[in-house]
Amino acid sequence: MTAPTPAPDRRRILSGIQPTADSFHLGNYLGAVSRWVPMQDSADAFYMIADLHAITVEQDPAVLRHRTRVAAAQLLAVGLDPAKCTLFVQSQVPEHAELAWILGCLTGFGEAGRMTQFKDKSSKVGAERASVGLFTYPVLQAADILLYRANAVPVGEDQRQHLELTRVLAQRFNARYGPTLTVPEPEMVKGIAKIFDLQNPTAKMSKSADSQAGVIDLLEDPKSLRKKVRSAVTDSGHEVAIDPENKPGVTNLLVIYSALTGRSMEDIAAQYGDSGYGGLKVDLAEVVVEWATPIQERTRAYLEDPAALDSVLAAGARRAREVAAATMADVRERTGFLVGTSLMGTA
Ligand code: TYM
Repeated sequence: MTAPTPAPDRRRILSGIQPTADSFHLGNYLGAVSRWVPMQDSADAFYMIADLHAITVEQDPAVLRHRTRVAAAQLLAVGLDPAKCTLFVQSQVPEHAELAWILGCLTGFGEAGRMTQFKDKSSKVGAERASVGLFTYPVLQAADILLYRANAVPVGEDQRQHLELTRVLAQRFNARYGPTLTVPEPEMVKGIAKIFDLQNPTAKMSKSADSQAGVIDLLEDPKSLRKKVRSAVTDSGHEVAIDPENKPGVTNLLVIYSALTGRSMEDIAAQYGDSGYGGLKVDLAEVVVEWATPIQERTRAYLEDPAALDSVLAAGARRAREVAAATMADVRERTGFLVGTSLMGTA
């Protein structure tokens, strides 16, 4: 495998996804993953399967290992090309945990406690059952980004607060120890940065939703996809129009339709007009099936050869480690640790 060779002026980007479900959902795809594909051509891109983040909640080891490969297969199936980007698994690069510790020592307890995702997730299970890992999740995410000195991070809207913390921690490290880390920018695309649940169109589509009836999975069978789209909750009235305030359900369907076909929302709304919501849903169901089917076929093909997948990931981890190790050498030195090849080996 040839390692990607970035031109010196290309932006560095990093993003990640957790292997916590049997399939990515449409929110993951539109909010993040679909944008990773074109970025591998224009940037020096690092894409990571965040298995260390996954274990902040309980995971069955065999299931986690399987889902990590399924995540890799899906990423390749949507178009990531290991010759153009660095695709790797977080736990295969030990520097993530090391930098997370150092950044954790720069993070205020109250500051971490204000993270809304932690508050939401921990309130579901209660303080005794919420892990310390869940609490420090955003610090590990900051380490992921800062290790690669990423300039930009393509993610969905729900990650905004974590990215803000990442920026603060980079600035704090630099102010205390001297310029070392790059302060990254979030990259969100208005409209698709937050895809809503089809049954509950004011809540984001989420793999941890109580019911999966409104969550569209990439690897779901066509019959189930059609059923979910056709039974999407729409709003009172019957006119198909873009109106996030009063018609969140229909507007969400228009966003999805537009993102998957490349047609403008206005154009689609005009096509269905006041003919009712039924036609829109029936046609969108077909659009969704047409989008998912080829990706499903490619995902299955990649999964037939786990050894080949593992070797793609191993090559990605080697390339990621080169970059991560260089950053960590600077960070260790700046932090005041004893460094030098006789002490540290050849990192
Ligand atoms: P995860 O696996 O929860 O989500 C992966 C990506 O999908 C986006 N997303 C959505 N976008 C639009 N609408 C939705 N309904 C929706 N649901 C999810 C998320 O914003 C995310 O971009 N913490 C990260 C994983 C991570 C990471 C990182 C990301 C770990 N380290 C470093 C960037 C940089 C997450 O929530 O993954």
